[in-house]
Amino acid sequence: MKGVRFLRKTKYILEFKNIVKTFPGIVANDHINLKIKRGDIHALLGENGAGKTTLMNILTGLYAPNSGEIYINDKKVKINSPKDSINLGIGMVHQHYKLVDTLKVSENIIIGSHKQKWMINNRVIFDEIISLSEKYGLAIRPNELVGNLSVGEKQRVEIIKMLYRNVEILVLDEPTSVLTLQECQNLFKTLREMKRQGKTIIFISHKLNEVMDVADTITVLRQGKIVNTLAKVDTNPIELTRMMFERETETITKNTLKDLQKAETVLVVEGLKALGDEGEISLNDVSFSIKKGEILGVAGVSGNGQKELAEVLTGLRPLVKGKIIIQGKEIREYKPIEFINNGISHIPADRIGVGTIPDFNCIENVILKTYRKQPIKKGLILDFKEANKIGEQLLNKYDVRISSYYIPVRLLSGGNLQKLILAREISCNHQLIIAVHPTYGLDVSAVNMIHKFFLEEQKKGVAILLISEDLDEILALSDEITVMYKGKLTPKQLRQKCSIENIGRAMMGI
Ligand SMILES: Nc1ncnc2c1ncn2[C@@H]1O[C@H](COP(=O)(O)OP(=O)(O)O)[C@@H](O)[C@H]1O
Ligand SMILES: [Mg+2]
Repeated sequence: MKGVRFLRKTKYILEFKNIVKTFPGIVANDHINLKIKRGDIHALLGENGAGKTTLMNILTGLYAPNSGEIYINDKKVKINSPKDSINLGIGMVHQHYKLVDTLKVSENIIIGSHKQKWMINNRVIFDEIISLSEKYGLAIRPNELVGNLSVGEKQRVEIIKMLYRNVEILVLDEPTSVLTLQECQNLFKTLREMKRQGKTIIFISHKLNEVMDVADTITVLRQGKIVNTLAKVDTNPIELTRMMFERETETITKNTLKDLQKAETVLVVEGLKALGDEGEISLNDVSFSIKKGEILGVAGVSGNGQKELAEVLTGLRPLVKGKIIIQGKEIREYKPIEFINNGISHIPADRIGVGTIPDFNCIENVILKTYRKQPIKKGLILDFKEANKIGEQLLNKYDVRISSYYIPVRLLSGGNLQKLILAREISCNHQLIIAVHPTYGLDVSAVNMIHKFFLEEQKKGVAILLISEDLDEILALSDEITVMYKGKLTPKQLRQKCSIENIGRAMMGI
């Protein structure tokens, strides 16, 4: 099989013909026909569950399709294992990395590669890794243990690992979901460089803006089927949004206009103005209100003032102008404790920096907001036994999975960390939850659990300000929706009256 890829240069490097893949009770890939052009950055766009990862797992030999064929350079191929796919020049960077924490970066890159021979000179390998790293702008530290790397750096190691295997087709599954904005920009630069070197990239994403940024060709998948394949220059975010989401309107039992009109108002903000970290105006005359038991979704592309809004509403950022009124009482002191005492809970975007104290253990973190009160505080002393008992109960209830609750939270996975934050935030008295990208980068089961939690809180009459980039999440949970763009909010509208098209348009500022 080796060598097939070098035979001749065809226009389409890869083709899927009639691929069908089912799981019990679901057709994950429903007769997929797709051609990928050589040297293209080809995006697979679709909401969660559309079937993107499944199709790529078939391409990389992790799943066998029920039926259908794959062609590379117009030649039918059989891919029965990841090894077959590597031999055909196909490599994939998975959403959950497959590196070995206890090995060095360089060791991770070479393991399993056909070049790995004990007699190969370490220096040669090292030089090759460095040269790939420089050529593609992928900063790494070859001698560091993988266990010590940030997620962004792990991703760069995964990419170099594939380049080291000389792949021609590189698949990246939701590569930006764990990256900072700066890291995303760097990744896109790397992808463009790979394209320049003639490589073909398949880029999986459910984010419109980044697909519009980096892709040449876009294929939209929905519920296991291909909706369309288009050149980027021939489409626009509104059309893509429509293709991604169009479906039978679901009937979710949500609050009606009447329910909301009857409810008491929990929070009113009027004419908020605040500055960003660089002194720029980040909130520009923001006004809105939320009622008891209401979930207000704030959609929008990150960086339009969402972070600052959440910070202002939790006392973490000063106001330049405006009023914040919680349950009829105007807040005068802009300090976190003032907001906590007035019943505001915060689920921040930054789980490890703002959300938790990394070196404190799970129990200490989960009782952070309650230890000053009964029953943990008895007179002047803290009852540690009681603290441990309460902490353990909370962590159990919220299904935080870790070998011991007495290890530092920096060792927790993203999903477990977020569950710990939820457990803590509900343990204090609150009327309003400010949640920022609450499910960003989490796996499906953690996402479901967090959504269930929000709906339960809502039933108890808690109001939720849900700030999220994930349109699906906004649509699934919100009673009313507003869009943030360049520091301003659009007037809120009932979820039932919002069309994807309108939200998409407001998100893009058009
Ligand atoms: N190993 C599996 N077992 C059962 N169902 C699966 C498995 N992998 C994916 N699915 C289901 O197939 C559908 C498509 O999933 P997936 O390809 O992961 O979507 P996407 O990557 O577009 O979010 C989903 O409904 C998912 O739950
Ligand atoms: Mg996926």
